Amino acid sequence: MKKNSIKHLFYITLLVLSFSCKTNTEPRVEIKQKAEPVFGLISEKAMVVSAREEASKIGVDIMKKGGNAFDAMVGTEMALAVAYPFAGSMGGGGFMVYRKANGETGALDYREKAPLAATKDMYLDKNGDAIPEKSQLGALAIGVPGTVAGIFAVHEKFGSLPIEEILRPVVALANRGFIVTEKQKKRFDNYNELFYKVNQDTILFAKQHKAGDTIKNTKLAQTLERIIKNGAAEFYKGETGKKLVDRIQSKGGIITMEDLSKYEVKWRKPVRFEYKGLSIISMSPPSSGGVCLAQIMKMIEPYELDKYGHNSVKTIQVITEAERRAYADRGFYLGDPDFVKIPIDTLIGKEYLSSRMEDFSFDKATRSSDINCGIVPGYESDETTHYSIVDSFGNAISVTITLNGAYGSKLYVPEIGTFLNNEMDDFSAKPGVPNMFGLIGAEANAIAPEKRMLSSMTPTIVEKDGKLWMSVGTPGGSTIITSVLQTILNVKEFGMTMQDAVNAPRFHHQWLPDVVVFEPESFDVDVLDSLKQKGYHINQEKSKIIGKVDGILVLPDGTLEGGADKRGDDTAVGF
Ligand code: GLY
Repeated sequence: MKKNSIKHLFYITLLVLSFSCKTNTEPRVEIKQKAEPVFGLISEKAMVVSAREEASKIGVDIMKKGGNAFDAMVGTEMALAVAYPFAGSMGGGGFMVYRKANGETGALDYREKAPLAATKDMYLDKNGDAIPEKSQLGALAIGVPGTVAGIFAVHEKFGSLPIEEILRPVVALANRGFIVTEKQKKRFDNYNELFYKVNQDTILFAKQHKAGDTIKNTKLAQTLERIIKNGAAEFYKGETGKKLVDRIQSKGGIITMEDLSKYEVKWRKPVRFEYKGLSIISMSPPSSGGVCLAQIMKMIEPYELDKYGHNSVKTIQVITEAERRAYADRGFYLGDPDFVKIPIDTLIGKEYLSSRMEDFSFDKATRSSDINCGIVPGYESDETTHYSIVDSFGNAISVTITLNGAYGSKLYVPEIGTFLNNEMDDFSAKPGVPNMFGLIGAEANAIAPEKRMLSSMTPTIVEKDGKLWMSVGTPGGSTIITSVLQTILNVKEFGMTMQDAVNAPRFHHQWLPDVVVFEPESFDVDVLDSLKQKGYHINQEKSKIIGKVDGILVLPDGTLEGGADKRGDDTAVGF
């Protein structure tokens, strides 16, 4: 308690200092900032923050037994596959950014790949127009999953406990079952019709569940048992792989055993850049996350956001204009680096980025059409999931995983107990035509056999003074990058606690459509009016929630503060 009081004093002092520097133009925003800071869970040694308490607990128990953050990654990821089928699964893929206790950093790409039989035009009709349903729903939307290869690659390189010891508690969870939460029940209900439509039968999650019910997934428990025995080969070459391919092909999909057996993960060099004394390490292509985050942060670095105030007119303008320019580049330059040449150094270079902001003025909004043009439909906002782990040895990881849409393609494999992704929709089916997140892509992200589709996932680790400072990330499709950005800024610029930083209201802009999306009823109306007068198109109606950020902050005394987003069932567990 005493420790917490000292931390409270520290943050209140920071807030008072930043408050005293502000102008008086947006009084209602400033009033919000005077609220007492709220801390998340504080732990001495190790922590997991994820979308489900069961998953965070399994990860922490592994570390209590002497396992490291990488062992905990394997257990947490599989526990999410049990308790959070919305986005956790064996049928998806993801990215991990890590920082070892000795300061070494790196990244793992276990993103899905296009099947060998994929073609550039596979989602176009005879007139050459994209058919969104084909890339979003059912067997043809599935990319070759990377999850199982990913956890085994991590375990092989960095793990310290036997895989059986790590996965045994996950098998027990699948057999014992997880408790359906209120939010989870709503999601099952929302997607019930699509479950029937795609599977043409009932599935485990299509039954009418009430909050508080227990769902056991014994088929998934059996799959995990086989994986414990036979390793990743069980999924890519064995009985599990055959069951998977049979199911996909019986529903019209094109994935074969050859696709599975050819799948491999890639160890990548993460994107690294500096922001006002912080060193930020984030995911490199085929995710756009790190490059876009670097572009946005380098473009806003010259501005004094701390003086403008959190969610004030000027702060929102600067961030929006930087986002506009970064997302325009994202659509044009980024794709799978094994297939396209990406000028990363130029894109995140100081010279290029300062020239990008040359035409920005606080007087009025830039038009996206002056940068490029297009018409884009609305957003989905809460797919994918993120978890952060720090262990007692000082290793840190940041992992974002996905099925793409909610429950992916909605195709379920009853014999394995898992949903399969619809990641193929992250390719540009037709350059200039938006995907399910409204993101427009170009040739760099066109479909090709064995290519990885562009992602927005932004698992990120931040260093301060050469030491670990934060592990952070979020789901949210195209809003991932801007949510991670705002969370880092909330702590760095506005002195928030980790918990306040993840809970704070967020906004999002992605170049096209030329609209700034705000979480409803969270922003000062005077601020929004002022933005409208400057020519910004404001949307609060279509916006659901923007991201579900989870993060861990290392406090000045070396303890860990968890930030578990209030928007989901996210939970920090530590010791
Ligand atoms: N499927 C969401 C992403 O990779 O960004």
